[in-house]
Amino acid sequence: MTSRAVQYRRFGGPEVLEVVEREDPVPGDGQVLLAVRAAAVNPLDWKLRTGAMAGTDAPPEPTVPGYDVAGVVEAVGPGVADLAVGDEVLGKGANGSYAEKIVADAVRLVRKPAALAFEQASSVPVGATTAYRVLDLLGLGEGDHTGTTLVVDGASGAVGVYAVQLAVARGATVIGTASEKHQDDVRALGATPVVYGDGLVERVRALAPQGVDVALETAGKGALRDLVELTGSPDTVVTIADYPGAQELGVTFSSGGDPQDERRWLADAVVRLADGRFRTTTVVTYPLDEAGTAQDDNQHGRVAGKLVLVP
Ligand SMILES: NC(=O)c1ccc[n+]([C@@H]2O[C@H](COP(=O)([O-])OP(=O)(O)OC[C@H]3O[C@@H](n4cnc5c(N)ncnc54)[C@H](OP(=O)(O)O)[C@@H]3O)[C@@H](O)[C@H]2O)c1
Repeated sequence: MTSRAVQYRRFGGPEVLEVVEREDPVPGDGQVLLAVRAAAVNPLDWKLRTGAMAGTDAPPEPTVPGYDVAGVVEAVGPGVADLAVGDEVLGKGANGSYAEKIVADAVRLVRKPAALAFEQASSVPVGATTAYRVLDLLGLGEGDHTGTTLVVDGASGAVGVYAVQLAVARGATVIGTASEKHQDDVRALGATPVVYGDGLVERVRALAPQGVDVALETAGKGALRDLVELTGSPDTVVTIADYPGAQELGVTFSSGGDPQDERRWLADAVVRLADGRFRTTTVVTYPLDEAGTAQDDNQHGRVAGKLVLVP
């Protein structure tokens, strides 16, 4: 059987993405074949597509972008005991998610509750699991953190919304940066909103006379130095988006995650989404053949929310 996938054979702008008909992938050990219902765009997808992170002229083989996926299990590979054909799941794909059919490692999937639409479900995995990971790193892991004040830079973004909601659920006082137009969105998540940009340190100090204990930088837009000034130390700041800034200031840059931890965190986020304790970002859908437009819209901040491809 064949199905459609988005791929690129050379690095470049959104124009290098092409829709091709390919043989359905075959699930290997511990994998399942998914019929994709929705695949969300993450900034890493277009960062990889540009080649800026590669150091070579072209990817070694045609590359299907994407990690986040929600879909239906269509076939089960050897060694998969906990998923069956027909199960509705969300998580991360193994070799790209912008396609009608993909394989995914079962360990990277959790069941999708009926109450969560596929489009919303696909918007969750990278954002939520990253948020759980970085809060652990900041000492805001499971437990009561009443009395701790956290600043989240980029609080209306895909990672930011989960970092804010989880920290608030754990008792922390959260101040979240966003543009003017997203101040109310950040407030609705349980944080005190503040506009990012020049003068951030003074604005945050006015909102937090008690001081800021820890800070998370999710935007990669140059706020790291301000966050170190606010907490008083690089040891109490984590970034997921500013690698050079982290190197320069001695701040922890966090990436990647243990699949078992991520599965546990994703399952926890899904329970909270299903019972209304968490809300997803707004979701905007695009057909698969507009993947380039969706990536470009995300890169240039043209469309707010999580951009989701629907095959
Ligand atoms: N290292 C990791 O493990 C990891 C994991 C996930 C993501 N990331 C990285 O983290 C970054 C954010 O990812 P995402 O998926 O959350 O992106 P996103 O959903 O596109 O959100 C980006 C957010 O940045 C905000 N923003 C724009 N300009 C800003 C500024 N000058 N100061 C502060 N915030 C600003 C935007 O807020 P407004 O719309 O209000 O302007 C937007 O909500 C990306 O660089 C991504 O590659 C890293």
